[in-house]
Amino acid sequence: MQNLFSTYKIKNLELKNRVVMPPMCQYSVEKKDGIANDWHYMHYVSRAVGGAGFIIVEMTDVEPDGRITDYDLGLWSDEQVPALAKIVEAVHSHGAKIGIQIAHAGRKAEDAPEPVAPSAIPFDENSKTPRALTTEEVKGMVEKFRLAVRRAVQAGFDAIEIHGAHGYLIHQFHSPLTNKRDDEYGQDLTKFGREVIEAAKAEMPADMPLIMRISAREYVEGGYGIEESIEFSKAYKDAGADVFDVSSGGEGQIAAWGRPGTHAAYQVPLARQIKEALQVPVMAVGRLDDPILANAVIGNEEADLVQVGRGMLRNPYWTLEAAKQLRKENIVPKQYEAGF
Ligand SMILES: Cc1cc2nc3c(=O)[nH]c(=O)nc-3n(C[C@H](O)[C@H](O)[C@H](O)COP(=O)(O)O)c2cc1C
Repeated sequence: MQNLFSTYKIKNLELKNRVVMPPMCQYSVEKKDGIANDWHYMHYVSRAVGGAGFIIVEMTDVEPDGRITDYDLGLWSDEQVPALAKIVEAVHSHGAKIGIQIAHAGRKAEDAPEPVAPSAIPFDENSKTPRALTTEEVKGMVEKFRLAVRRAVQAGFDAIEIHGAHGYLIHQFHSPLTNKRDDEYGQDLTKFGREVIEAAKAEMPADMPLIMRISAREYVEGGYGIEESIEFSKAYKDAGADVFDVSSGGEGQIAAWGRPGTHAAYQVPLARQIKEALQVPVMAVGRLDDPILANAVIGNEEADLVQVGRGMLRNPYWTLEAAKQLRKENIVPKQYEAGF
């Protein structure tokens, strides 16, 4: 029987437990240059000290206008690599593995003078109307993802996550609500996402896993559901995605996003359905910060890995406390034993 503190291996990624810190934007790049700073270093390294097996660095964007805000991380320049490499090295020295989420915000790029998207449809009435990318620009965007992944590999990350969720650019391409194109990228809604995955894989060592984060269902009227997301996820799996990180929503206003409720484990059924339909490893996320519940998700084989986001913002030592509560082996660093 597996539990939250069982080891896990996928390709070359060997984790000491099943606890993952999911990507969470810090909006903390004060210099607006996309370069990680001391905040990011402390933020990620402290969760490694806190026992998490795997940490995924926040949404990191492939071009300046692909950021949600100008305070986000980027990987569009070689100058952005060393600060991330320093974080990777420190996280490794504390026994955790680390990936990074590569992304483009598309029409949700709030600070971009002119955001770009598959089609010129604004997010809501308060958002800028994006400019539809030309076919050539879409191909160019795939190359920007490729170069960002190349730099992430150079920085020493153990895995790459591609952000295909929460209403950002890749999600905008595979959703019929936001992709009204009549070129090849509109006739085939997964073409852009597949090409991004293929470009990423071409830059990654063969034994490094690629994680695809998806919104498994939309919450606005007319949005897609689990049946459709199983279908597009199959296309992403065939293109090379090794693991699915199953979230939901993000395509519409926050008020709508709240549905179907944010009760404990609210997205676990979606993760389980993707896992069963595709026979792939999945990561569950969303209100899983009760250790007994997180442990049950693994024990019941609903997901292979469990992510704890806001729970780890509150408590970087979430994993150490979970181990104590679940009476698993003592994983507390000796310097902190007196506190446990
Ligand atoms: C402050 C904050 C920033 C976030 N930024 C990202 C992000 O960069 N990329 C992403 O895919 N999800 C992001 N999310 C969503 C989380 O990864 C996670 O899916 C969500 O918080 C639900 O998990 P939880 O209930 O454990 O917090 C963010 C969430 C929070 C609270």
